[in-house]
Amino acid sequence: MSIILGHRGASGYAPENTLEAFRLAMDMGADGFELDVHLSRDGELIVMHDETVDRTTDGSGQIQSFTLKELKRLDASNGMPQYKGAKIPTLGELYDLIRDTRHLVNVEIKTDQIVYPGIAEKVLKLEQEKGMEGRILYSSFNHYTLQELRQIKPDVKYGILYSDGLFEPWKYAKSIGAAYIHPHWRTLLYPGMIEGSLAAGIGINPWTVNDEGIMELCIRHGIGVITNYPDKALAIRDTK
Ligand code: G3P
Ligand code: MG
Repeated sequence: MSIILGHRGASGYAPENTLEAFRLAMDMGADGFELDVHLSRDGELIVMHDETVDRTTDGSGQIQSFTLKELKRLDASNGMPQYKGAKIPTLGELYDLIRDTRHLVNVEIKTDQIVYPGIAEKVLKLEQEKGMEGRILYSSFNHYTLQELRQIKPDVKYGILYSDGLFEPWKYAKSIGAAYIHPHWRTLLYPGMIEGSLAAGIGINPWTVNDEGIMELCIRHGIGVITNYPDKALAIRDTK
């Protein structure tokens, strides 16, 4: 059965990467969510998409130039007035929120532009401290970061993020110990892509699947759906 994950939470309806968006995804019935992490100046794991706070908050500057206390003063409602006062969460706060649930989390480590020192070690330590083992799937566009995870925890589960037409991606995924591929949804349409990956035992979690036709395709093949609109994907899954 397809696993349906809210991309940055239910970000089609609530400010992306806030606890409000994650709560809404859970209320809708999503199996979990995808989120993005960076490090603050004082080494905290910060849930946000961009490297800077400019687009989604009322502040400006790089996340890595703020302390957690400074980041907490910002409004992360991202132009949605009904969510005014929403805060930037830490990864630990999200884990506290979902501790007693069964939701899955795809933690995307945002080291494609800034290589945050020690971030691989920190996410794994937090997963253990918060009792989240077995519920976290890591991903990154920076596959060196994924190897760092594996060096620290050989049985860690991760997916390779990529955007373009990687040929027979399951072969590459296997070669670097990835259990999943996390491709841009467009690549699902390349010949043999879905079948080849599944036959090789490599799971597929495409992003960002907001088109209902592509949701249908994913659900028909039993592959993951990372979407801003988990309610739409759930409605399609319910009809199957
Ligand atoms: O992890 C899937 C997707 O979030 C990757 O792209 O830029 O939305 O983080 P982006
Ligand atoms: Mg992401």
